[in-house]
This record gives sequence, C-alpha cells and structure tokens, in this order.
Amino acid sequence: MSLDYDRYDRIRPIQWMDDHLLLLDQRRLPFETVSLRCDSAAEVAVAIRDLAVRGAPAIGISAAWGVVLAGQGTQAADGLEAERLMAAQLDALNASRPTAVNLMWAIRRMRTALRAAGPDWLAAITSEAEAIAREDLAANRLMGQLGAALIAPGSGVLTHCNTGSLATAGFGTALGVIRAGVAERRIAKVFAGETRPWGQGARLTAWELQQDGIPPTLIADSAAAHLMKTGAVQWLIVGADRICANGDTANKIGTYAHAISAKHHGVKVMVVAPSSTVDMATKHGDDIEIELRDARELLFAGGQRVVAEGVAAWNPVFDVTPGSLIDVIVTEKGVIERPDEAAMRAVFGAG
Ligand code: MRU
Repeated sequence: MSLDYDRYDRIRPIQWMDDHLLLLDQRRLPFETVSLRCDSAAEVAVAIRDLAVRGAPAIGISAAWGVVLAGQGTQAADGLEAERLMAAQLDALNASRPTAVNLMWAIRRMRTALRAAGPDWLAAITSEAEAIAREDLAANRLMGQLGAALIAPGSGVLTHCNTGSLATAGFGTALGVIRAGVAERRIAKVFAGETRPWGQGARLTAWELQQDGIPPTLIADSAAAHLMKTGAVQWLIVGADRICANGDTANKIGTYAHAISAKHHGVKVMVVAPSSTVDMATKHGDDIEIELRDARELLFAGGQRVVAEGVAAWNPVFDVTPGSLIDVIVTEKGVIERPDEAAMRAVFGAG
C-alpha cells in the first residue's frame, strides 16, 4: 500500500523566506504555533542552543541556512574569500550544540560548496542549503518505507523524544517509520515516552501524532520497562544524534535505558536516521561528547521551582546505546541488521 504523504506530512518547522529564516518555535508548542524569525547566523546559533529548533536533522538544516544568512551580510569576490570572512560565524554555528553530528556535517558540506564556488558563491550556497533540506525529506520518506516493512501487522511500538516533522525537513525519521507503519496497518498502537526533562515526547510527539489523526498514548519514561513486560509493544523505534563506526548510537537521554529494557523483554530496537547522522570518523560511543544542559531543566517545571533550594542536579541530555543492543539501523542508504563495525562499513565504507 502506498502512503498518502500529503496526509501524513504537513508540518514544516524550517522555512526559508529568501532573505530570512522562519523557525517554528518548539519551546512554545503544543499550545502556541509561533514562528521565530532569524536574520543572522548568530540568531540561528542562539535558536539552536536554546532549542527553538531541535532534532539532529533540523539542527543541520537550520545551520545550513545560517551559513546563507552569514553570506548575505558578506561582500567577497569568490567563495574562498567569503569562507575566510565568514569563518567566525561558521565556527559559532558549529559550536551551538555538541552531540548531533548533523550540525557539523551540514557546516562542513556548506564550507565545501563555498570553497568550490566562484563569484556566484552566494547562489551556490543557497542551492546547497536547499539540497540539504530536500535530501533530508526524501531520505525520511524512503526510511519510512524501509522501516515499516520490518514491522509485523498489528504491532505496538514505543518511541522516545521527538523524531518527527519537527525534528527534520518533514515526515520524520523514527516517527516517519511510525507514520508509514500506521498507514500500512502494521502498527496498531503507538506509545510515546514523555522524555524528561524537556518533554519532547509529551509536548511535541504527542501533538504531532494527533495532528495526523494517529492517537498517541503517553507514558512516563519510567513506565517503559513495565509497558514492555505487558507485551503491548514489539518494537522500540527511536532516532539518533550520532551513529558511530561500530553502530553505537547517541540519542536522547533515556534511550539507553529503554534499549536495555527492550533486550530483557524481547522487544526489538530500531534506530532510524539519515546518513548525515552517521559519523564513521568516531569509532566508539565513548568518544561522543554528551551535551550537559542547565540544571534548571530539572529543577523547574513550567517556570516553577519543584525541587528544594540547594539541591544539585546533573543533566546529561543524551546517552549512548551500544550497537549490540540495536537490532536494526534504518538509513536511506541501507538497512543494517545487528550493527557492528563490519556491517556499518559495508554500507558506509571507511567514512
Ligand atoms: O535535544 P533534542 O530535542 O535536539 O534531541 C533530539 C533527539 O535526541 C532525537 O531523537 C534525534 O535528534 C533524532 S531527530 C530525527
């Protein structure tokens, strides 16, 4: 059965408006759909850092448009000169968040396009940013089909964080597989973990699924093992922020715990991510920088302090799931079963 993409693919978080960027401000969802306007690379870097835009592919695409915004404020005879003049702005964009490799990948790709360009360098990097967004959407649609094909009809699934249209150019990665799986009647029930502390699952995934007429069932993150024990889910389907050469995968904090529970209960684990999330230059998950965010994300809820004064908090926002806990990694370049270094290399080469 072919998927009616228009029905399932309506949200666009990143819109290029020829001379500025509009980002659907994810801090305000689900109750307000408000756009944040960015007129400079610096404003895009702040939007990424402060989670107005989030999700690995969406961060990369936004950064690519940030490079174009930097270019619009630059006078240069050719791409090489432009790159030199824009270097500080590009470095700031590159450093706006540390874990999602799509950010560094997009900046690297934009720099390569810039270096290769002559006097028409601004047009060249604008086309490159468009291509990055277009390719992401196409990858998601393909991964949706590839991933859904692995799921037996009538299955229940659990997802974590938000990996949908909001986190990508559109359609989503793990959520794209879920959209396709629901459309193909392979997925009968979708559970979304709330994803403490920032609430990407509760605030974003539940809203996104509802927009599509897919009724989500929200669970507390700490309910996942119990849910798996009941037999209600056959797959844990998640996205990724960085996939290493050995299949180790960084994703939103809590993914690792869910994967351990999944292994214990015979629930299969599917990671869905475009090749822009694969980092063959990083050999092992231990080498990934894990972003630590402000303790206030834990100490406050809805602007209200909920923890006694003086209590310290540790807030790593990603963890690494070893490749050995993953049954399958779905990318637009191929499906990797039981990922390890050899299986990854067979699809991605040496990187
Ligand atoms: O901190 P976030 O919200 O940017 O984290 C997002 C995730 O961990 C997603 O699972 C990942 O980026 C994949 S999004 C398609």
